Amino acid sequence: MPEQKSTSATPSLRRVLEILASYPWFVFVGIISLLLLITTNALTPQLFRWGIDRGISENNLDVVFKCALFLVLAAVGRGIFSFGQNFCAESISQNVAYRLRNQVFSKTQNLSLSYYNNTSSGQLLTRVTSDVEQIRTFIGTTLLQVTSGFITLITSSIIVFTMNWKLALITLTAIPLAVFLLSQFFKKNSKLFGMVQVKLANLNSILEENLIGVRVVKAFVREKSEISRYTTLNGELLDVNIKTVKVVRNLFPVLFLLSNLISLAVIGFGGAEVIGKQFSLGELIAFNSYLVFILQPVLQIGFAAGVIAQASASAKRVYEIIDAKIDISNNPNAIVLGLSDIKGEIKFENVGFRYPGSTIETLKNISFEAKPGEFIAIVGMTGSGKSSIANLIPRFYDVTSGIVRVDGYDVRDLKLESLRSHVATVFQDATLFSGTIRENIAYGLPDSSLEQIIEAAKIAQIHDFISTLPDGYDTIVGERGIGLSGGQKQRVAIARTVLTDFQILILDDATSAVDAKTASLILESLEELRQARQCTIIAIAQRISSIRNADKILLVDKGEVVAQGKHEELLAMSSLYAGILASQIQQNQPISSQIS
Ligand SMILES: Nc1ncnc2c1ncn2[C@@H]1O[C@H](COP(=O)(O)OP(=O)(O)O)[C@@H](O)[C@H]1O
Ligand SMILES: [Mg+2]
Repeated sequence: MPEQKSTSATPSLRRVLEILASYPWFVFVGIISLLLLITTNALTPQLFRWGIDRGISENNLDVVFKCALFLVLAAVGRGIFSFGQNFCAESISQNVAYRLRNQVFSKTQNLSLSYYNNTSSGQLLTRVTSDVEQIRTFIGTTLLQVTSGFITLITSSIIVFTMNWKLALITLTAIPLAVFLLSQFFKKNSKLFGMVQVKLANLNSILEENLIGVRVVKAFVREKSEISRYTTLNGELLDVNIKTVKVVRNLFPVLFLLSNLISLAVIGFGGAEVIGKQFSLGELIAFNSYLVFILQPVLQIGFAAGVIAQASASAKRVYEIIDAKIDISNNPNAIVLGLSDIKGEIKFENVGFRYPGSTIETLKNISFEAKPGEFIAIVGMTGSGKSSIANLIPRFYDVTSGIVRVDGYDVRDLKLESLRSHVATVFQDATLFSGTIRENIAYGLPDSSLEQIIEAAKIAQIHDFISTLPDGYDTIVGERGIGLSGGQKQRVAIARTVLTDFQILILDDATSAVDAKTASLILESLEELRQARQCTIIAIAQRISSIRNADKILLVDKGEVVAQGKHEELLAMSSLYAGILASQIQQNQPISSQIS
């Protein structure tokens, strides 16, 4: 098949077409309607011919009436069949879009974090919305046009040839001419059509960035320049769109001219044949009606070429996400651990780590051990690699060398779901979802009772604040937790995590935005929780004062653990540690003297 070698994007579009097999009834009814419509269309000119030659020319009123009746029936039939084919095509297209959107979304849920480091969410949004819409239009409209165009073209060509082959030859010269015109047109303008999508994607990413960064924009008083940046890009999109409209509009007069020239030839040459009695008047009128069924499909197919090219590109982009490799996945013999099986021991053995795609070694030769139920603290300057160490335990990333063990198991041998459900993490940037505070706290365990939720909120020192809100736990927070301060969001995030069942709790700078007094209250209640549950806690902390009682403190510097031990031991052996502590005490001096 020659059309197989066309573009590299064709396979993706073929995969879209394969989805149609899931809707056999729609496809079946759609094709039947389409065939019936084409048949009705092809028969109508023959009715005219019969009415004129047998009715009007022979003064037979009976035939004229019958002909009129059949024409009405044909019109009704056309209505029904056209509804049938469009309804089926649209239904299939909506179902395909539904399916693709779901596939892309569920993929985004399973992709590893490393994927998001290299892909902007604006790009992902464009794929779920605009690219899926392109594919939907292709299935709902274009596919039908092309199929019906091809069948109509072939049947009409056969009919005109059997009617009058000389006249048919004249008519069919229109096809190569139209094909030539269209191919020139697309060769000249294909870049222009591609530009529309590119400009739209640019515009979307600016919009998305600005919505997320609205506070930064306001803080830096950059509203005007952001508006002008958006306006400029929006203007570019407008220009490209107008240019597209222009070139398409310019093409039409040329095509109409072509069709009129053909009509002229048919009427001229055919008229002479009628006068010479080689062709009846009815036949000539019928023949002329078929011209529409020949030229229109050629144009339809021609214009469909552009849509098909766009849909191919869209399908390729959509399947790029659906097929994206998941770096972190379960190995085939992954072990499932129940909560009662797990004790909470953590062991790093000579761990080295590089972020995917990065050339810099973020962690080097990290070795340490946390015994079940211990409180381990990680301290160090920003950028030293503390979060990276924490990310390796629930396997958000895989080590580059060495092994991370939980209860003696290499984390890569454990089932991800089971590992992550026993290792709970509170991130520094507390992202809340739109919904009530109660729903946010119960995110991990939606069936929790209000008592459990309140208990978790008390541990996180946020219960008193929630009680002061007019709607209490039913207060709605925005999608990014707008309406709550950074520290309040962090505390809701702590409550959300504390509520779940875990044996290992990781706090990644979880109280960085909470005042020192409240932070130490949170730590106290977490300490009680640790005693009660016998769970292991790993706390990354800025303030050394808050973790000085830890069973073990790891001092991280430039991706290495440079010292580990109890607070007093570190003070004695590490000048870096002593230095950090000294700077913090100096900083806090005036504040703590104010408080006490
Ligand atoms: N997603 C990432 N991709 C590439 N490099 C990263 C990524 N996240 C962090 N890094 C780099 O790794 C180093 C350690 O970062 P991180 O562990 O977050 O430090 P800390 O938590 O101690 O402040 C930094 O130099 C940072 O630039
Ligand atoms: Mg960090």
